[in-house]
Amino acid sequence: MRTDTGQVINLADYRPTDFVLERVDLTFELDPTETKVEARLIFHRREGANPKAPLVLDGDELSLAGLLFDQVEMSAEQYTATAESLTVYDLPAAEPFELTITTIINPEANTQLMGLYRTGGIYCTQCEAEGFRRITYFPDRPDVLAPYTVNIIADKAANPLLLSNGNFLGGAGYGEGKHFAAWFDPHPKPSYLFALVAGDLGVIEDTFTTMSGRDVAMKIYVEHGKEPRAAYAMDALKRSMKWDEEVFGREYDLDIFMIVAVSDFNMGAMENKGLNIFNDKYVLADPETATDADYANIEAIIAHEYFHNWTGNRITCRDWFQLCLKEGLTVYRDHEFSSDQRSRPVKRIAEVRHLKSEQFPEDGGPLAHPVRPTQYREINNFYTTTVYEKGSEVTRMIATLLGRETFKKGMDIYFDRHDGQAVTIEDFVKCFEDASGRDLAQFSLWYHQAGTPLVTASGSYDATAKTFSLSLEQMVPATPGQTDKKPMHVPLSLALFGENGGKIEPASVEGAEYAGEVLHLTGRTQTAVFHGVGSRPVVSINRSFSAPINLHFDQSPADLALLARYETDHFARWQALTDLALPNLLKAARHARDGKAIVCERTFIDALLAAAADKNLEPAFRAQALALPSEADIARELGSNNDPDAIHAGRQAVMKQIADQGAEVFAKLFETMTTPGDFSPDARSAGRRALRNAALTYLSYAQCSPGHAKAAFDAANNMTELLHALTILAHRFPESGEAITALSAFRDRFAQNALVIDKWFSVQATIPGAATLDRVRKLMESPLFKRTNPNRVRALVGTFAFTNPTGFGRADGEGYRFMAREILDIDQRNPQLAARILTSMRSWRALEPVRAGFARAALAEIEQAPALSTDVRDIVERTLK
Ligand code: ARG
Ligand code: ZN
Repeated sequence: MRTDTGQVINLADYRPTDFVLERVDLTFELDPTETKVEARLIFHRREGANPKAPLVLDGDELSLAGLLFDQVEMSAEQYTATAESLTVYDLPAAEPFELTITTIINPEANTQLMGLYRTGGIYCTQCEAEGFRRITYFPDRPDVLAPYTVNIIADKAANPLLLSNGNFLGGAGYGEGKHFAAWFDPHPKPSYLFALVAGDLGVIEDTFTTMSGRDVAMKIYVEHGKEPRAAYAMDALKRSMKWDEEVFGREYDLDIFMIVAVSDFNMGAMENKGLNIFNDKYVLADPETATDADYANIEAIIAHEYFHNWTGNRITCRDWFQLCLKEGLTVYRDHEFSSDQRSRPVKRIAEVRHLKSEQFPEDGGPLAHPVRPTQYREINNFYTTTVYEKGSEVTRMIATLLGRETFKKGMDIYFDRHDGQAVTIEDFVKCFEDASGRDLAQFSLWYHQAGTPLVTASGSYDATAKTFSLSLEQMVPATPGQTDKKPMHVPLSLALFGENGGKIEPASVEGAEYAGEVLHLTGRTQTAVFHGVGSRPVVSINRSFSAPINLHFDQSPADLALLARYETDHFARWQALTDLALPNLLKAARHARDGKAIVCERTFIDALLAAAADKNLEPAFRAQALALPSEADIARELGSNNDPDAIHAGRQAVMKQIADQGAEVFAKLFETMTTPGDFSPDARSAGRRALRNAALTYLSYAQCSPGHAKAAFDAANNMTELLHALTILAHRFPESGEAITALSAFRDRFAQNALVIDKWFSVQATIPGAATLDRVRKLMESPLFKRTNPNRVRALVGTFAFTNPTGFGRADGEGYRFMAREILDIDQRNPQLAARILTSMRSWRALEPVRAGFARAALAEIEQAPALSTDVRDIVERTLK
């Protein structure tokens, strides 16, 4: 493990390399513990660069085994090699030269899963962001692009498959039971997109004919025997390729597109050119083992990685500060894809729920950073929901501000102008300025200012003048390193509704630009006056969540109920129902803490049950409405002095009241929302299952006994319903015989399937209450748990920390102490994973003082440990600051 050096990288220090890399020729002689890598690199000095400057290449835990200059061995005084760099002196002033660098690496010992490593008996790589430097000395930065040739030599019996980027050149026997294969990728790429896979895998194959009529061979590689479980991923891939042609005009550019699923992987997946490598969780699915959420994730991530081929690979980042250039944009593209494949409003609700539960706490806590940061110590810690999800929201706002057509025009300019380049956010934004003629300088603050803006609104109606005035005020909270914030350009999708639920079209609007139902808030304060408004309007602000803001707008329960019923934007209907629910949940949490009775407003429960029973609404929407804000959502709204036990008790009481009042509605939904016939993962069927599951949840509250859930568990014929029933049993009745039996039946049935066992771990890790910590400890001793596998660790330890406020945050602080020890243990093997799980502590300051004290002490224990990785040191120091 590389320990921290305290070095900070600044965007302001960016400068191009002194040497231009012309081409890369790699030869791998694969061996589990001693792989020989020979890199032949052709460089020339950049025009205008210092003629004396040495060439400095990056390394990480490397040792040099040989160095040739134009095929002649270099002498010791011509270079300096350390584990972290190779510096070569006295290089030609202008003419090209070739360096041949040999390194010996140990894939078996690579537990960080960065660079070349072993998983499930195969060789695979992960190079983003800085993994390539663990393979060979290299200018390992995204603005160094070159075509690659890759030769792979390996034992033939163990590794019948030898894969790399680009097109297959050829292969042959290589003596002594070995064989080799050669690949050529003609598209210049940065090293982070390099990939190699070797081993023995099964495959499913298909062909895609592109819009210009070229046939592309498509292959998905999985462990032998798992081929049928890759069928849905293949289907999603074909739909993604077609969609990118139709919607963005982007065609695939190689003869072959490959995906490899591996079981040990730090992230979701990786967009290596022509050879995507996936966490198998996001490839494998079948009705017996995958939930509807799994299918939706597979579809989204397959699309995401495929879309990177244009937004990321053809056009890449100049430096890692520009990460959102590819990630924000590509998340936006995968969101749009899923919206087109499924229900747009339901997808939008899911996106916003995710944004609020993951990104808002990041943006409001010690780890807040701009979408385009200007400083980092460890780039792996910047693969955040701010860069990804807020980055996507910023792209979405450009589309909202400019309108669909102009946005498309801007994207076309981007693809034409920058194909083959490594560029910046400024280059990206400029394309939209050129397409629209608009100045996007103020808008660009969304990339540069961290923090979730707070917009406060208040309205007043003048019946004689027939005007409605809407006063708006915006405030961007202070975040680490940024105290003075400028007002932002906030696109607020907005509409007015009459008392009868019909839309009111104002005759004109003064005081703010208002076009296509989008109001442009640009001032710190601003008043928009709507003329020709015949009756008191009910305003709907930030429809479709047009801007990622917190909105404070006091609307009466009656007004919210009207929007919940008549808004034409179904996202806004859901928002209105949530706005009705929240005050009830907040009050319930306070009353639970103070030992007072908890009684919900009628308007809220009536509106919720009306939506639940409304046959004109899609089932998936109704299910979303019934899924109340989570305990973490409530904690975030409360903001400070949080007591997880009180929040939990309050929410439980609210659930019970809804359940009692709606018992008949829920019984009926449970009975009717079935999905007879063969299982289909389509969105409509998934929506019916979601609504049926929601109904079952409430029935379990109405009934206060495990009977319904037990029956549902026994009757389930798909994973979505089976897992939901199991969750109700385990969470609501953990000590019951029904729960104990169901948990062990589930384990026995799926013991051979690690991805399903992860669900079994997660269900138990999220059982509310203080007793769960001991359960988690015991589960870690289970033979089914594997400390070296990131999915296992995330499913049990990660899920416990991120989504069990009463268990992890138990009053005696034991949860935090447990986590400190686990983080230190994981850090020894896999710093990236440790740092990621540690971010679960980011909201510790919002806890009540006693818990906050325990949390701080646990963080301090981590901080004081010797030999922390850069990853963990960076997170722990920022979290404590
Ligand atoms: N680019 C990958 C994606 O599509 C993520 C890779 C992140 N890797 C890392 N080591 N942080 O989202
Ligand atoms: Zn990505």
